[in-house]
Parts: sequence; C-alpha cells; structure tokens
Amino acid sequence: MNNQSLENKLVPIPDRREMLCAETPGGPCGVVVFGASGDLAKRKLYGSLFELYRRRLLNDRFYCVGCGRTALTNEAFREMVSQSLGNRDSEEVRKFVDRFSYLSGDYSDPVLYQGLRTAMTEADRRWSVSGRRIFYLSVPPTLYETIANALGSSSLAQPAVTPDPEAPILILEKPFGRDLDSAIGLNSVLRRHFEESQIYRIDHYLGKETVQNILMFRFANAIFEPIWNRNYIQQVQITIAETVGVEHRSGYYDQTGAMRDMFQNHMLGMLALVAMEPPVAFAAEAIRDERVKLLRSVRPMRCQPWATDIVRGQYGSGAIDGQPVSGYRQEPDIGKDSRTETFVAARAWIDNWRWKDVPFFMRTGKRMSRKVTEIAIAFRPVPHSMFASVGLDNLPPNVLVLKIQPQEGIRMSFQAKRPGSKVCMSTLSLDFTYRDLFGAEAPESYQRLLLDAMTGDPTLFLRQDDIEVAWSLVTPILRAWENDASIPAEYPAGAESFPDADAMIHGSGFGWRRLSEM
Ligand code: BG6
Repeated sequence: MNNQSLENKLVPIPDRREMLCAETPGGPCGVVVFGASGDLAKRKLYGSLFELYRRRLLNDRFYCVGCGRTALTNEAFREMVSQSLGNRDSEEVRKFVDRFSYLSGDYSDPVLYQGLRTAMTEADRRWSVSGRRIFYLSVPPTLYETIANALGSSSLAQPAVTPDPEAPILILEKPFGRDLDSAIGLNSVLRRHFEESQIYRIDHYLGKETVQNILMFRFANAIFEPIWNRNYIQQVQITIAETVGVEHRSGYYDQTGAMRDMFQNHMLGMLALVAMEPPVAFAAEAIRDERVKLLRSVRPMRCQPWATDIVRGQYGSGAIDGQPVSGYRQEPDIGKDSRTETFVAARAWIDNWRWKDVPFFMRTGKRMSRKVTEIAIAFRPVPHSMFASVGLDNLPPNVLVLKIQPQEGIRMSFQAKRPGSKVCMSTLSLDFTYRDLFGAEAPESYQRLLLDAMTGDPTLFLRQDDIEVAWSLVTPILRAWENDASIPAEYPAGAESFPDADAMIHGSGFGWRRLSEM
C-alpha cells in the first residue's frame, strides 16, 4: 500500500450528524382545533404552533380554524391566542394570529361542519393551501366519537385506502377509552372515517426529548446493550412524581384517576422504551412493533389482598413546599367519599429472556414532595468486595439515571477513591444535563409532535395495538378496584410514598429512591 492510499484510509469520514439535526419543516396545511378555547389549546397548542412558526418550521402556507362551543368573534379568538402566547405585541405575533379564525357551534350539529367546510375552503384559498388537513381533538374524550362521525358524514374526512400524503389526519389525546372494551369501541368508530395511518394518538411523554433519547442512548452506543439485561441489571425504578393536585380538572380527574391518567399511558410507554428489544430501524413501525412486543411480555400484575403487584393511594391534607394543601376529598367538586386513586405503585415482571426475574418498580402520584420524572437502572452489586477486609463489604451498586424532568439529563453513579486515607471511598457521579450541554431547555413536547404530524411521521404516536395491550394490562386491576368498596390508602400531601407501596418494594428486598435525592 503506498502512502497515498494509506492516507486515504485514515481520512476521517465527515460527520454527517450535524446535517441530520436540521429539522424538516411541515408541509402546507390547515389545522382545525376542536376545543379551541379550552385549557390544553391555550396552554400547549398555540404556544407550540407559534414556536414552530418562529423557527420557520411551520409552512408559510398554514392556517388554523378554531372550533368551540363558546361564542367568539374572529377578533376575540385571535386576541385569546395572542394572550396565550404571553400577549407578545410584535409584528410576528400579529402575522401569526392573522392565520387564525373561529367557528362556534354544537359538535353534534351538522351546521357546524357545513360552516367548517366553508371556512376551510376560504382559508385554503387565502393561504394557498392545497395540502393536508389536520383535525385536532382538544376536547373531552366523550366527544371523540361525535366529532369523528360528524367529520365523516360531512365528508370532511374519509379513509385513505391507499397511502396519500394529503389525506386528512386526526390527532387526539389520551385517554383512548376507559378500559379495553371501550378503547376497541372508540377505535372502531374512528376507523369508519380514518385509516390507522391517518390517526395520530398523542402521548405527550413520547414527545419529550429525554424520553426519545432513551432510544439513542441504548441503541447508538455499543457499551450499554451488552449489559442491558438480567445478568447485569438488578432492578429498575420509574418515577413520575408531581406536586400538583387535581388543579381545576376535578371533573375529569375524579372519573379517571392515576391509573388511567398516567400509568396506562405515560408510565407503560416509558417502560416499553427502556426495556424493549432493539428495533431493526429508526422507523415508525419497527419501533412501534418492539414497544408492543415488550408490553405483551409484561406478566399480568396481581392485585389480590394476599399477593399484590400494584397498590393505590389517595392524598390527604399535608404540605407542599411548606404550604398547607387540602386532601383530595376536600378539593372543590370532589365527592367526600371518592375512591379515585391519585397514586399508583407497581412491580412489573417481564417474561422474556432479557428480563426474567428483574423487577421493574413504577410509581406515579399527585401531591408528592417533588416534581420529578426519571428512570433509574440499578446494576448488580460487585460479586465480591476485596475491600471487605477494611470494612467496606456492602458496596452500593452502580445506578444509571435517565432524568426526564425537571433537569433533563443522564447521571451514572460509581464508587471511587477520595483523596486522603488509603481506603477512603465514596459514591461519585458522572452527570450531564441538556441545559448545560446544549445551552437551552428542551423544546416543549407538543412542538415535536405537531411537527411530526405535519410531516406525516407517526413514530412518536401510539398505534391501536399499543393502546390495547396497555389496557389489557390495567383493565383487570381497574375492575378489581371498582369492586373494592374501600377508599384507597391515604398518604399526606408532600409524601414520597405510603406504607402499601413501601411494603410492596420491601417485599422484593429493595426501597424506593428518595425523591429529595434525585
Ligand atoms: C397529563 C396528565 O397527561 O400529564 C396530567 O393528564 C399530568 O394529570 C401531566 O399532570 C403531567 O405531564 P408533565 O409533562 O408535566 O409531566
């Protein structure tokens, strides 16, 4: 080999990764938001659309029609949208809200949909949109079937039998049904008017940067996969703790509870990403197939008084950040005898080769002492401590923490020598946070999800079989709780856990990670 060819071999391949960071802007589209004056639209949707607009990711040929029961003029609606952006009085905001118009009416009244058709035709012309129409259901789930049927009968929606990038799409938020049967029933109504490929079911946790990073972390690094299994991992803990109570959503929450609100979707979604097998490609169906396969291998959780893998609690009065707060049953519009759970703690076993006998502990609750979401992977302790002779026989295991919020990042703890005495050892951590490294907070998950819907990428949305397998895991537990007349165990607001949850994890020989130390 001459020098020239040797050099050629050693020239580094140019790093294409920067190029891949460029985001694909959305195509031309008209977005219809049902529930346009509602809470979710104001808190999340308009701000996310505006950020996409500011970042030039929203196509110039874009408009939004808001629909709601509240009577509003176009001007009042635009004012409401700009207020939801923090009332930024700028040319940019004015140009953005100029694309918004509003229609009020009853969601079951065909007149609303005739008006919608006219409004969209006008907006299509004004903003030169001939592309995709997106119907976003930001309404209570009880209205999903009504709106989907009305879109179908007014011919605003129809199933795209062959793949068509311009076919209308439907975006909807969880909960998708209240149990397995109702989820199947809802889907059969949606499928009369939309193909599966036209339905984008949001789990906003999948839009979080650090949740997506689980895939990169696991499958773009060679060092983790070989130890990502029962031979090296002793237990996994997934925590989604919130300090808020029911806020102003008593009506919704009291009918829903933590199991349906957080566990069936966000919690099982994170479990699937952290435990699934490597997908064959970074492609929607390949990733969704693995998520579903993993959830199918979760062993049914036991819920008998004598053997339980899942327990529920309800917050009582207590204090959060030093401020007194009332208990769940004293919250406005919550019944004094409500049995709704605000905390769920579970132990899951995954019956496959990779995870046999590794417990996955999960907990999610409202009114806990800190807002924190993380996945902690605890490795097995060293098999033998050579430091036992100097009194260090119980060495803490290495723990890898995928921090989802509030400080998004990754931390790995390990044992190391401290300067000083020959055997001075302590637990240190390798830590990085997204903010320190990338200099910015991760973008709001709705930005990612809206943009993906506009570009027709369903990877971060739930497929119907994903939803059904999750419901089939939790429905038997919901049934058992419905048939149990007792009120869930009370934990004081501001707590980290409660005795039943502690007993469950202690029964496996472990303890919950302390929220204050996360
Ligand atoms: C929602 C639940 O899906 O997630 C809420 O309905 C919960 O009850 C919220 O507060 C938590 O989301 P995040 O992104 O703040 O962790």
